[in-house]
Amino acid sequence: MNEKEIVIMGIETSCDDTAVAVVSGGQEILSSLISSQADFHQKFGGVVPEIASRRHLEAVNLLVEEALREAGMKLSDLSAVAVTYGPGLVGALLIGVSTAKALSYACGLPLIAVNHIEGHLYANFLAHRDLELPLTALIVSGGHTNLVYIEEHGCFEVLGRTRDDAAGEVFDKIARALDLGYPGGPLIDGLSVGGDSQAIPFPRAFLEEDSLDFSFSGLKSAVLNYINRQKQKNGEIDLKNLSASFQQAVIEVLVEKTIRAAGKKQVKNIALSGGVAANRSLRSSLSRRASAEGYKLYYPPLEFCTDNAAMIASAGHYQYLRKDFADMDLNAVPGLQLSTISDNM
Ligand code: KG4
Ligand code: ZN
Repeated sequence: MNEKEIVIMGIETSCDDTAVAVVSGGQEILSSLISSQADFHQKFGGVVPEIASRRHLEAVNLLVEEALREAGMKLSDLSAVAVTYGPGLVGALLIGVSTAKALSYACGLPLIAVNHIEGHLYANFLAHRDLELPLTALIVSGGHTNLVYIEEHGCFEVLGRTRDDAAGEVFDKIARALDLGYPGGPLIDGLSVGGDSQAIPFPRAFLEEDSLDFSFSGLKSAVLNYINRQKQKNGEIDLKNLSASFQQAVIEVLVEKTIRAAGKKQVKNIALSGGVAANRSLRSSLSRRASAEGYKLYYPPLEFCTDNAAMIASAGHYQYLRKDFADMDLNAVPGLQLSTISDNM
């Protein structure tokens, strides 16, 4: 079969977005639908797992139907069904996995199990036809923060990961402490505009000299302590300065380690992805630094930074090409990590 004729349905239910997409040739998005649950979780300041599972269950079949309709396809036109099987909330993942297994069994379609973190990386392949391997990627989201070297499709070397909180998780926790709402990233990003990023000297954790790991829990505690101290003495909290100062502390570490990783692996291309890649200051700081150091930086358009199913279908496309199929005993793996996979690295 011609590679362009491969049509993959992607299903994504790992957290609080139900998403279904149909992608042809790994890059052409025929449909990409997202039903966001943010309004249901908003008042709790974070995702409530049981609510997430119930909403996925209500939405997923309707989205499958609608995604096919928009793509002008029937189930029998698909080449395979790709689904996120981890990491994420177990009850939420199980809805997507069960749906994909049912479609695969009923229609005789190959089933493809996609690691959500790998899916985020493929948002860049969706958007950039000229993106070539090898590359170094920073995948930074609400649940994960990884620096990865990708030599070829399916070959990953994990260069660094967070030892505690993910970067997006810290944005969300600080927004919650400030009663800003959920998700916190876009709110803090918006507030930081016009704020003074040097106003409050929050710590930057660079860890050991040669380490490409991250640690954001010290920064999180420093910001939460600052907020508590100000509240206790009825002091004023300048939300703009606080947001800009906190965000700057995260970004400086992310940018520095990404550039170091690219230097270590001697690549030309850097890819940025995941929900936090939607952050305007991160995009511009990493762009500036990358071009000053001679690297080409790629990042997806905003709608493909946060969770979506087109990226899962695109990752599925490359797994389809190497016949990396799952069996009917596929299960959700909530704690799935991105591991180094290679014969020769
Ligand atoms: O990729 P994603 O949709 O879900 C996970 O896989 O975790 O990422 C969601 C995370 C949330 O923590 C959210 O606050 C953060 O990405 N985020 C941002 C921005 N937009 C979303 N963080 C900083 N700045 C943003 N503009
Ligand atoms: Zn995600």
